Amino acid sequence: MSQPSLSDCTLQRLPVYGDERGQLAVIEGEALIGFPVRRVYYLFGTVGAVSRGFHAHHRLQQLAIAVRGSCRMLLDDGRERTSIWLDDPGSALRLPPMIWHEMHDFSDDCVLLVLADYEYDERDYIRDYAEFRRLAAGESV
Ligand code: TYD
Repeated sequence: MSQPSLSDCTLQRLPVYGDERGQLAVIEGEALIGFPVRRVYYLFGTVGAVSRGFHAHHRLQQLAIAVRGSCRMLLDDGRERTSIWLDDPGSALRLPPMIWHEMHDFSDDCVLLVLADYEYDERDYIRDYAEFRRLAAGESV
């Protein structure tokens, strides 16, 4: 993948099937997900005033869905930044590698589900923003 940019951080509608019994959203298939899923994790019990994230990944691809509640995802590709509200269990945010992301303004009931293409590996994290900016600019660190 060439250097990802904010335009790659797309919000995608999921197929949602609803009837009088309630709603059912489906996250299925590589065409929709974009990668083989090797890990699923979720954030819950978050605190509104406490932000999380503040990192990018060297290679990890992720898909994030606020299956309950809401939070604001700040996205930064090293050139510009934007914020996207995740507040719809029927929408998934594509989070490519080399996107600095921060999660802010969690609602009390937020459950943020994340699908990822690799198991957890701390070596894949870039937790220093200055280092991220240098890498995003193509500089060696
Ligand atoms: P971290 O990625 O720092 O959380 P956030 O980006 O939401 O602020 O992870 C918090 C802790 O959980 C840290 O000790 C690493 C651990 N962790 C795992 O063991 N496996 C995982 O899949 C994830 C995402 C985190």
